[in-house]
Order: sequence, then C-alpha cells, then structure tokens
Amino acid sequence: MKKNSAFDEIVLALKKEIQEHNFNYYVKDDPTIADSAYDDLMRKLEGLEKQYPELITEDSPTQRVGMLSNTAFNQVSHIKPMLSLNNVFHEDELVAFDKRIKTDLGIESINYAVEPKFDGLAIALIYEEGFFSLGATRGDGFTGEDVTHNLKTIKSIPLKIDTKSLPSRIEIRGEVVMFKEDFLALNKKQVELGQKVFANPRNAAAGSLRQLDSNITATRPLRFYAYSIDFEGIENILTSHSDSIKLLNELKIPTTNLVKNVNDIKGLLAYYHEIIDKRQELPFDIDGVVYKVNSLNHQDELGFVSRAPRWAVAHKFPAEEAESQVLGIDVQVGRTGAITPVARLKPTFVSGVTVTNASLHNESELLRKDVHINDFVLIRRAGDVVPEVVSVIKSKRPGNIKSFSMPTNCPECNSELKKEEGEVILRCCAGIQCSAQRKQSIMHFASRKAMDIDGLGEKIIDQLLQNKMINDFTDLYTLDLASLESLERFGEKSAKNLINSIHHSKETTLGRLIYALGIRGVGEATAKDLAKEFGTISNIKAQTLVDLEQVDDIGPTVSGFIHSYFNDLNSVALIDRLINNGVTFRSEAKKEVKFVPEISEKIFVLTGTLPTLKREDAKQIIDQYGGKVTSTVSKKTDYLLAGNDAGSKLEKAQVLGVVVLSEDDLIKWTTEE
Ligand code: IVH
Repeated sequence: MKKNSAFDEIVLALKKEIQEHNFNYYVKDDPTIADSAYDDLMRKLEGLEKQYPELITEDSPTQRVGMLSNTAFNQVSHIKPMLSLNNVFHEDELVAFDKRIKTDLGIESINYAVEPKFDGLAIALIYEEGFFSLGATRGDGFTGEDVTHNLKTIKSIPLKIDTKSLPSRIEIRGEVVMFKEDFLALNKKQVELGQKVFANPRNAAAGSLRQLDSNITATRPLRFYAYSIDFEGIENILTSHSDSIKLLNELKIPTTNLVKNVNDIKGLLAYYHEIIDKRQELPFDIDGVVYKVNSLNHQDELGFVSRAPRWAVAHKFPAEEAESQVLGIDVQVGRTGAITPVARLKPTFVSGVTVTNASLHNESELLRKDVHINDFVLIRRAGDVVPEVVSVIKSKRPGNIKSFSMPTNCPECNSELKKEEGEVILRCCAGIQCSAQRKQSIMHFASRKAMDIDGLGEKIIDQLLQNKMINDFTDLYTLDLASLESLERFGEKSAKNLINSIHHSKETTLGRLIYALGIRGVGEATAKDLAKEFGTISNIKAQTLVDLEQVDDIGPTVSGFIHSYFNDLNSVALIDRLINNGVTFRSEAKKEVKFVPEISEKIFVLTGTLPTLKREDAKQIIDQYGGKVTSTVSKKTDYLLAGNDAGSKLEKAQVLGVVVLSEDDLIKWTTEE
C-alpha cells in the first residue's frame, strides 16, 4: 500500500495529541480531556494504523501494550553501576556528613539539592536518538534485567523525547512506584479475582514489572519519577543537580515537584521535617529524604567510596513501631546454622503489612530485653527488614508470663549447639547434614541474586527433599521432566517450566556462582569482588588468607571463612559436581593492567580543572595502570594531580609533603617506553 501523506500527518498529529494528554494526566496531574474522548483518540489512531500499517512507529501510543518481547528479562549491564546511598538515621550523623563534605571540599557553605527518597524500584531508561530503547532494573547494581516491554506501558514515560542538541544516547534513572490509593484499589481487585494480594505498594510495583506479559503490567497503575540524567559531555552543559532536574522537566520526563535547594545543615534538617509532615499526604510511599551536593564539579571531586557516592546521603525516617503481644517463642535455624529466637506475635499491622513474627536476634538480646511469653511488646519494621521486638512494655506485664530458655540442641537435627569464642550467636555446626540448613542452602542457591532459578520456591524444595529427589543443590541439575511430573501438584507445564529455569541457570557468572555457594560472610558484593579479583575458582583456592584480605571489604574473619570453604573437601566436591552437572560461568576478572612503576599501586588524589583531560579520563588512565584514586589527601597519598583553581587539597598536600603532579607528568609516564 502506498504511503498516504495526508494520513501521515493526521497520524502524527494524533500521536502528539495523545502523548500531550498523557503528559497532562500523568505528569502534570492536570487532565485536559475526558476519559471517553481520550479513548476515542486512541481508537482513531488504532484504526488508521490498521489501515496503513506502514505508519506505525515505535513511539506510537498504540505500541505501549501487548508487544511481544523477545528481550524480556535479558541481562543488561549498566554502563555506569547503579549505586546505593549511605543512610543516616540521626542528626549527629548528618552533622558529620555535612562537616566532612565541607572539609573535603575546603569550603564553608554547601548548597544541596534535596528530594524525597522514593520507596519503589530503581530503574534506568535509555533513549537513543530520542527513542526510548531500553529500560532495565537495578539488579545487583552492575547488571539488571531488561523490562522495556513493561516500562513502555507506563504512560508517563515518553516513548520519544526531544533531545535537540544532546548526544544520541541518554540515560535517565529514577524509581517506579505505585500510588498508595492505586495499591489499595489493586488489592481489592485481586481479592475479587481470587488472586494474591500484595504486601505494600513497592511489592505491587515490583510484581507488576516482573510480568512476562505486558498486557498484565498495563493494567497495573505504575508511575515513574526520574532523579538523574546522564550523557556524554554532560559536564559541558550542566553544572548542578538542579540543572539536571530542569533538563528532565524540559524533556517532559516526570520528576517530583518536591525537589528543592537548601544550604548547610540547617536547610537539610528543615527539609527533613517539612517532608515528614507531608509524608502521609503524599500519593506515594517514601522512606526518607535524599541530600545531594548540588554542584556537579563538587560531586566529581568528592567521588565514591565502595558502592556509594560521598556527595549524597539518604536521611531515613525512623522505622514505624506498633504494640503487639508475644504468643510464643520459637527458634529458627538459619542458612549458616545460626540459631535465632523468634517471637510469635498476635497479628499486628505495621508499616503496611500484618506482622506475625519478629526476630529476637540472639540469646543475649532476649535476656537484655527481658522478653517473656505473653509480654506486651513494641515491634518495629523498617523496609524489607525482618520485624524486630524493640522492647517490652513493662507497665502492661500480665501475671501469666512464662520465661523461655534457648535449646541446647538443634531443633531440626538435634546436634549440640555451640557458641564460637567471643560470639553471642549459638550455632548448629552440622552444615548441610542439618535438614534446616540443607533446605536453606538450596533456597539461597536458587534465589534471584544467586543462580536465579525462577519458580523454585520453598514448597517445591520441600517436596524434592522429602521425596529424596535431591540431597543438595548440585542435584537440581540431575532432575528430569518425568520425575518432576510424578510429584503432587506438578503438571506437565509446571514441570517443563521448572526444568527450563534450572537449565537456564546453568550458564552464569563466577560472581553469582560464588554467592550461590552460600559461604559465610560472603554476600553478593564480596562474591563479585572475589570473581573480579581472582577470575577462576582454582585461583581463589590458591590464595592465602593475606591475599584474600587485599580484596575490598574482606577482613580477617571473612577471609578465614573463604579460605576454609575452598580448602574443605566437601565444598570442593560440591563445586566439582556443579561443574560436572553442566554449570558454566563467565569470568569477570579484571583486565590485565600494564605495570608502570610511577602509577601502579600508587594512591592519587585529583583536584582542580585539568588543562585537557576530563577528571573521568584521568581517573581511567590511573585505573588502567593499576593506580588508585581516592578523594582525600592524607599521609598515604602518593600524588596530588592538580589542575587550575586547586583549593584546599593543594595546601594540604604541600603541608604533608605529598608530590604534586601536573597533567603533563601523568601523560608522560603513560607514553614513555
Ligand atoms: S540518587 C548514586 N535519589 O535509593 C546513587 N536515589 O540507596 C544515586 N532512591 O536504589 C541515587 N529515591 O533508586 C537517588 N531521590 C532519590 C532516590 C533514590 C530513591 C533509591 C535509588 C537506589 C537507592 C539507593
């Protein structure tokens, strides 16, 4: 069919008009059209596109829903990692933050951009040539999942932005949330449909984004709020975080109108109280406020430490508390054998969920808080953390309290419980010989951040263990369709799905595999660091305790755990079985660094404006040759790389006798043969 230019223009105008209505409704919160008239516009567009399919473009509002995605949940590597924020809870910690920033920058007053901390899901949106091309979850910060198909259903996210003179690739980060009101309505609908209800708006948003079918996501009222934008050369166009917000607004990307600028500690605290007062009235959940040094130059100078920026902090709201009554006390055996006393509570609603259990942490905490069965207690729940008993309400202590003492033997496998020297935690040392630890090690192995075996939940693991189809996680890879189908509640389809997920998980990364092994003290980040540093399992095995401690965040205790894990014959046999059963992993080893004696293993601090290199480039050069860039000048600093307008860092370097370099010196070292 020939392209009809008359219709071409009509279709273009319709698309624009619909997007304008989306913007007014979802971003400005100021609808300018009745729902029925909006539906008419959509129908008209659909009709024309059906008649002239060549007029369908990827930014058409008709393309938001129901498109088949062949990239759903693919892994997406973030070009720049999606980092986390350090938290402060108390005023004195905040005062220390403000003071440190002033000292590091050598200035007396700081302007901050301040905004709410959304309690949603972190998302990155990529626009290429103006078109929304990829949307991904944060994942572990380095790799997320492709959820483009679902993000397209969020009408406040424009499918096309007017990028004018900006570079072709733009990355926008923010959070997907569900309004509190929409969450209540959704749960009501779920009850009517006999489907599962969500614990809170954040879980509802997360569940909605994890749908394979975007038709389902489209029925879930999700919103997006951006808090950052990035592209190549941003430093030549924007000077502050407030500029970023302004640019996002010009691009018609939703931001919250609660972003402000304030100065110093006084301004920060005033904002905190202002938002606490407004919290209930806000349409979405927030769990604190975020303070960001406004100047992008200053942000750059302050840099990052570990996985969080030094130029920002989250001031979290205190966790909500509620009163409940202890109906009983049980003990639970954790994945690494830790025995935790848990209070069984009278069901109590706190922070949006009904709590029935709360952790009492360990025996000494239990004694310190003097918790008895039948006591009235204050419980607290912060975010996703397991609820805890804060204190006993002594004034309400009933006459029928009963005391509780910790068991001497494991409630699951009956082996004797032990306390390591200097530790308060009782442990069952039977490892995976203990049924509780065995089950939890398999649950951990299959979990999303580990091997990510979709659909393998606690109940199925129970079934597999009870039927002796598996004994440890390596056996998952020997399961076959026929034996799964023979299990109760398993149909052909569910068995096939599970076999598929298990099969998919075989191809993984070394970091995930190490995390999945469940080594004590080795969380996701440490596992990733080990993978990066050593590249292969045999190389990790070959390291001494001291070598292991060279890795970020690994101290003597954790290096001991890692060392004994990889030197234990049972663990080695487990890993061998995984590999024999077909598990393969990509190495994430660091690139070989070229050794240059002046740079390698030396500690650099950067300050001022360099004549030709951007700060990021200088950092990259130093990194490439195995040097380290830190942000504060100290006795340990080897060089200060100083450009124009170097401030207090230069003075400090001179006082401490640190060698001051120019950009030329650095470049010379890297080019000399
Ligand atoms: S800025 C370099 N601003 O908090 C870190 N994060 O702990 C930049 N979050 O998952 C993050 N509201 O998605 C920033 N106004 C806000 C935020 C915010 C919520 C989330 C973020 C991340 C987590 C970091």
